[in-house]
Amino acid sequence: MSGYDVLVLGEVLLEISTEVPLGDGVSARVGASGDALNAAAAAAAAGARVGLIAVLAADDSGLAIRRRIAELGISTDLLRTGRGQQGVYFSHADPQGQRHFVYSRTGSVGSTMSPADLPATQIAGAGLVLASGIACAVSASARAAVHRAAELAPGRLVYDPNHRPQLRAGTQALRDLLDLAPACALITPSHPAETALLGSALPADVAGGLPSDASRDASRDASRDASRDASRAAAVLHRRGARAVAVTCGASGVHYEGALGSGWVPAAPAPSVVDQTGAGDCFVGSTAARLALGDDLRTAVGYGVAAASLSVGGRGGSGLVPTRAQVLAHASAQSHAHGPVTPAQQASGTPS
Ligand SMILES: Nc1ncnc2c1ncn2[C@@H]1O[C@H](COP(=O)(O)OP(=O)(O)OP(=O)(O)O)[C@@H](O)[C@H]1O
Ligand SMILES: [Mg+2]
Repeated sequence: MSGYDVLVLGEVLLEISTEVPLGDGVSARVGASGDALNAAAAAAAAGARVGLIAVLAADDSGLAIRRRIAELGISTDLLRTGRGQQGVYFSHADPQGQRHFVYSRTGSVGSTMSPADLPATQIAGAGLVLASGIACAVSASARAAVHRAAELAPGRLVYDPNHRPQLRAGTQALRDLLDLAPACALITPSHPAETALLGSALPADVAGGLPSDASRDASRDASRDASRDASRAAAVLHRRGARAVAVTCGASGVHYEGALGSGWVPAAPAPSVVDQTGAGDCFVGSTAARLALGDDLRTAVGYGVAAASLSVGGRGGSGLVPTRAQVLAHASAQSHAHGPVTPAQQASGTPS
């Protein structure tokens, strides 16, 4: 055993966040983010022993990130340093309060990750290994590292497609989704953006049921539609070999499918919505941790949903990482307020 419940690989970014449009003289908050760090932080908070595999800059920006990783309870033992600049993104709000992102990551040190950076023994012994479509998109060598990790941890990969159209084409994202699915203990596409990628991989009768937002009848119940569409996409990935699939449907909830059946977990109402950045990362990190620690799929997904709904109350990707005690209290308050999802609802995948 490597001693890690969850190993996460990917790129860590500096986050520079302002409350107002970017401009000369505006105040900004500096943080550490990137989907790998956000997911690793959530997994550590959920009680897992977590290691992060990433390449950081050999300068003060890399050191600052390393300190933050340690503060979040994540092991820094598998981090490497390399030549190049730390990737950065700017997050700012427009006059309507909508958040926008500007990335500066082309050729970044994080994107130099390659299979040579992988600690093979630790990966082979880890409970689960988590990687994302962003790692696959930032460079050919980082993509090769994700595929190598899948070979080293067959059936124990957790893959979050996190498709970012500005980084690569949908056809490439779909290829990774389908190629990595057989190695996955859990795969977490979001709906509708990432389930839409699967349109061409679905049988014709099913593909017709994956609507774009524009084709939706606004009068229909959004959660019920999301559940139905998500279950179709989940079935494709499950048949492809993924042991479990959790399709995240934003503020509606999550459809899950595994060896013991499928179901719908409604999103827990967020006590406060400050910034939805990283909700998906918090969900996948928390859920992976609970699976690695032995929870069943329904319980792990329920935990991930409660954690993600708290995470949107903080600014930035890892501005609010809820503790296990906070998540359990929030989940328990939800089930008292609305009652648990019944087995019949779970079996039919019907949102409550
Ligand atoms: N406003 C919200 N209120 C409560 N829960 C939320 C909210 N937004 C997201 N969540 C929870 O977080 C989960 C993941 O969110 P979402 O589906 O937006 O992920 P994503 O599209 O992968 O996000 P990301 O942009 O981080 O990749 C949802 O399934 C839901 O349970
Ligand atoms: Mg996502």
